[in-house]
Amino acid sequence: MGQSFLENILNLTLILSLTSFLVSGNYETCSGIVPMRYRNDKISIMDFGGVGDGVTLNTKAFRGAIFRIEHLRRRGGTVLYLPPGVYLTEAFNLTSHMTLYLARGAVIKATTSTGNWPLIPPLPSYGRGRERPGGRYMSFIHGDGLHDVIITGENGTIDGQGEVWWNMWRQRTLQFTRPNLIELINSRGIIISNVIFKDSPFWNIHPVYCRNVVIHHVTILAPADSPNTDGIDPDSSSHVCIEDSYISVGDDLVAVKSGWDQYGIAFGRPSHDITIRRIVGSSPFAGIAVGSETSGGIMGVYVEHLNLFNMGVGIHVKTNTGRGGVIRNISVSNVYMENVRTGIKIAGDVGDHPDENYNPNALPNVKGIKMKDVWGEKVTQPGLIRGLKKAPFTDICLSNINLHGPIGPRYTPWKCSDVSGSSFKVSPWPCAEMTSEHQSGACSTSF
Ligand SMILES: *[C@@H]1O[C@H](CO)[C@@H](O)[C@H](O)[C@H]1NC(C)=O
Ligand SMILES: *[C@@H]1O[C@H](CO)[C@@H](O)[C@H](O)[C@H]1NC(C)=O
Ligand SMILES: *[C@@H]1O[C@H](CO)[C@@H](O)[C@H](O)[C@H]1NC(C)=O
Repeated sequence: MGQSFLENILNLTLILSLTSFLVSGNYETCSGIVPMRYRNDKISIMDFGGVGDGVTLNTKAFRGAIFRIEHLRRRGGTVLYLPPGVYLTEAFNLTSHMTLYLARGAVIKATTSTGNWPLIPPLPSYGRGRERPGGRYMSFIHGDGLHDVIITGENGTIDGQGEVWWNMWRQRTLQFTRPNLIELINSRGIIISNVIFKDSPFWNIHPVYCRNVVIHHVTILAPADSPNTDGIDPDSSSHVCIEDSYISVGDDLVAVKSGWDQYGIAFGRPSHDITIRRIVGSSPFAGIAVGSETSGGIMGVYVEHLNLFNMGVGIHVKTNTGRGGVIRNISVSNVYMENVRTGIKIAGDVGDHPDENYNPNALPNVKGIKMKDVWGEKVTQPGLIRGLKKAPFTDICLSNINLHGPIGPRYTPWKCSDVSGSSFKVSPWPCAEMTSEHQSGACSTSF
């Protein structure tokens, strides 16, 4: 925390090269999920009146350039090029078949005038804005119903200037839910790579009702005390692959979601086939989270090769009464964590409700979570698994888990309730509940 930007980048470079060295020979990438496209048609924001002085508002330039891409429809799509410079702008919409290319030194900066920020309707799977009832502010960069969109370049920056929004949250003066930095709704064939995301007002990257989304080599930065600045939140989406990125934010680094209580249950769109690997980061909340909004179901999440530092929770599967939803086949392996409050947490009593009309009988169904090869130092509590009395968690497998405590009296042992599963080479020893099945049980299933 409080690390300089440069230190963050140096850490990232060091750890990523170390990670790639350690896993070389078995180096999988997301590249098969969305084909990379090379586009012949290129335009520059400068051709549309762009001014990169950090002061001039470029809303018209962005809208004009994207209108041109949308309506001229050049074969193979169009690159919108941003040369070095700081482009202040209001929120804008992307279109299909485009590449937003940020040159080295190009910054797209969100306006801090929040007064006329556009509003959009709530997501059907949430029924309302996530933090305030009713509609919500449109994301800074927005897309709905798109395909074949690439956001990339030479590590230029998308800066949400979120402080003004964080302060409204702190002072309880927010009228509607804060904007995400990037939200893509109902979209497919998306690549986001080699971009730095900074100071998002709310969640950073939010693909919702999307499929075939690849995010790699991104850097996401927000202060540790910035509220709800989740890194990447795949939500009711499938075939999402996130890899080789550095994320240091004020909330979960990556949180897989699928809608909120009765609205999410009615909408019924799961998140599935989600791959997350080679992520380095820190946060006072979770490294990788599943939930807490899980009402459409979350199946098939594969997480590997994480390096987590100064975290609240290493891996957090979280749901609640009223959520319903199936959580199935979550696999996590090869995690190193250091200076963490709770290493592994799986809990059925986390998160709030959209309103009083949630169904208290809609219980989550959690089965088949496998954690393997996890190593931690300075971990205050190695693990906490709290199922629900009326819906115990089953088939939980812990294999080769070494989570060492800090020296001194703060150490808290494993705690489990309403869970069954098996443990194999877990140190310190977990709980009796987790030895209910042997190696032939939960740990032998592969998914
Ligand atoms: C951007 O998209 C939103 C939501 O789809 C829509 O309400 C809005 O009118 C669009 N804005 C512009 C400038 O096209
Ligand atoms: C951008 O940053 C990523 C992650 O730090 C790095 O791997 C990549 O080489 C950089 N790309 C360029 C074009 O500088
Ligand atoms: C979970 O994994 C098992 C074993 O591969 C598979 O048979 C099952 O269909 C998966 N379940 C879900 C809901 O994805």
